[in-house]
Amino acid sequence: MSFNIKFVKDSNTKSDIEIVFINKDLLKKLPDSRAKILSLQNFNANDGEVIFLQSDNVLYYGVNLCDMDSVREAGAKAIRIVKKYNIKSLKISAFDDKEFTYALLIGILLGDYEFVDYKSEVKKTSLKAIYIISNDDYKNELHKASMIADSVNMARNVVNTPPQDCTPIALADIAKRISKDFDLDCRIGDIKFLQKEKMELILAVAKASINEPRFIELKYSPKKAKKRIVIVGKGLTYDSGGLSLKPADYMTTMKADKGGGCAVLGIMQAIAGLRPDIEVVGIIGATENMIGGNAYKPDDIIKSREGITVEVKNTDAEGRLVLADCLSYAQDLNPDYIIDLATLTGACVVGLGEYTSGIMGYNEDLNREFEKVATKSGELVAILPFNRHLEKLIDSKNADISNVSSTRYGGALTAGIFLGRFIKSEYKDKWIHLDIAGPAFVEKEWDVNSFGASGIGIRSVVDFILKVANGA
Ligand code: BES
Ligand code: ZN
Ligand code: ZN
Repeated sequence: MSFNIKFVKDSNTKSDIEIVFINKDLLKKLPDSRAKILSLQNFNANDGEVIFLQSDNVLYYGVNLCDMDSVREAGAKAIRIVKKYNIKSLKISAFDDKEFTYALLIGILLGDYEFVDYKSEVKKTSLKAIYIISNDDYKNELHKASMIADSVNMARNVVNTPPQDCTPIALADIAKRISKDFDLDCRIGDIKFLQKEKMELILAVAKASINEPRFIELKYSPKKAKKRIVIVGKGLTYDSGGLSLKPADYMTTMKADKGGGCAVLGIMQAIAGLRPDIEVVGIIGATENMIGGNAYKPDDIIKSREGITVEVKNTDAEGRLVLADCLSYAQDLNPDYIIDLATLTGACVVGLGEYTSGIMGYNEDLNREFEKVATKSGELVAILPFNRHLEKLIDSKNADISNVSSTRYGGALTAGIFLGRFIKSEYKDKWIHLDIAGPAFVEKEWDVNSFGASGIGIRSVVDFILKVANGA
């Protein structure tokens, strides 16, 4: 981010451009001369309609001012438009409301993101200052929006980093750096640690890779913690599918299979900045899923950390294997809640589309609670309901369970049910699984997301943690 955001009271504050967010009612209230110019240009203040009046340097942006999602999106799109102009300062008239102001801020800060680390030439934006005209300075909203946006944009950068550079060891180094910068505890487990912990599922997935796996653990411990929440992320720095190799077209973008793990990094960074009275532990199972003479094979039977034996029927269903051992470890930490985030199944994308994450878990109240918080945070989610019939679909003839279902239907659910087998009965009601495969990687810009990694999951989970901290 190249610019500063400042709240100012004086509506006459000088700036190169002004953005006016406007709806149909406000359009009618404009002075006649202005209304006439806009009407001549056929501007009707429909949602997303934009017009730039060069004579006054005012950009009119049509938006449904009663809808938070529209306001957030308007913030993102407006910043993308004005960044193309050669301007130093921008003025926006704000909303007289905390939540709408927050939506505008987060929209601007997330919409501004671009991944440029590998471009030889980067066009610098000239924009240095955004003045928001308001009687309030919305300090808390600006602080929270900055913390969250910095974390989401950091996570986006890591997910976007190509797999030859973002290996499991590199991911662990990033975690170490975050822990230093944000005063978190950090523990990195190498192969010896994984062996000692009997995390044979992670070791099996990692076997064929020349880049060693890492178990990453970050911890935020405030003085007076009311609760403990453990967040677990799938950190596949590359998923080729293994011996059940992916077709070439499905392999591209699989650098983003670390989206869940990177969301954990983002959540930990945001929590370290927002400092709720909740202990938060972030765990990432970081590995590649590759091919080679040493690779784990379809038909292998592997004993998990939990002691459950798993028959591998498809090496491309590797995420659930990695998560199973991580979830086993997570429960030993005696948490009040466990939330996992994973780009787990193509089936979730088929079922819910590319904008929506799936929420799964045994506790229907907790699912609904999370759904509410996530929706308010601006992320799209839908509950996928478990049922008892799904359980038998992962039966195995030779081991305790199979890593794939016996039917191709309901693949997001059977993956969730697989994870559920590794959750002990006393934690069944405390666990939520989030399948973020759809929105984790953006092929075509939407909402606050530019092309590439979205950093999805961070806003929902951080808001959930803050809600728990507030006693809800
Ligand atoms: N990483 C993929 C899931 C995925 C697919 C993420 C598309 C993002 C976009 C996962 O490891 C995988 O390959 N899952 C298989 C499971 C199947 C073999 C049971 C899938 O969904 O096809
Ligand atoms: Zn896979
Ligand atoms: Zn995967």
